[in-house]
Amino acid sequence: MAIKGIGTDIVAVSRIKRLRKTYGSRFLNRVFTKGEIAYCESKEHPEIHFAGRFAAKEAIAKAVYQSGYNKVIPFSDIEILNDTEGRPQVSFLIHTSGNCLVSISHEQAMAIAFAILEF
Ligand SMILES: CC(C)(COP(=O)(O)OP(=O)(O)OC[C@H]1O[C@@H](n2cnc3c(N)ncnc32)[C@H](O)[C@@H]1OP(=O)(O)O)[C@@H](O)C(=O)NCCC(=O)NCCS
Repeated sequence: MAIKGIGTDIVAVSRIKRLRKTYGSRFLNRVFTKGEIAYCESKEHPEIHFAGRFAAKEAIAKAVYQSGYNKVIPFSDIEILNDTEGRPQVSFLIHTSGNCLVSISHEQAMAIAFAILEF
C-alpha cells in the first residue's frame, strides 16, 4: 500500500455548538451517521466530540480529493466510530478505494484531525 492522500482540519467547538443549537437534528443528520450521533450524545460534552468528527470528515475529504477522487463526498457518507480501545475507525458508505486512517484531538475550544488515505 502507498499513501495517496493526506488531509488535516481544525474546527472551533463553538461553531458546532451554534449549528447544533440553530438547526438541531437537521444539522446532525446531514453531517453525522446515527452511530456517530449516538456516540457523541453519550458524552458529557457532545459538541466537543461532534467537532472532532467534523474536523475528521474535512480531513478525510481532503485526503480523498488529493488521491484523485472528484465527486462530492456527503459527510454523512463517511462514518467514524471508535473501537473498544477508543481508536477512531473510518468507514466509507460511498464507493471509494482505499484504507483511511484518522487521528482526532480536542480541547474545550478547538478540535483537530489528521487523515491518511492509502491503497
Ligand atoms: C489515547 C489517548 C492518548 C488520548 O489522549 P487524550 O489527550 O485523552 O485525547 P484527545 O482529547 O487528544 O483526543 C481524543 C480523541 O482521541 C481518540 N482516541 C481515543 N482513544 C484512542 C486510542 N487508544 N488510540 C488512538 N486514538 C484514540 C478519539 O478519537 C478521541 O476522540 P473521540 O472520543 O471524540 O472519538 C489517551 O486516552 C490514552 O493514553 N489512552 C490509553 C490508551 C490505552 O491504554 N491503550 C491500551 C493499549 S497501550
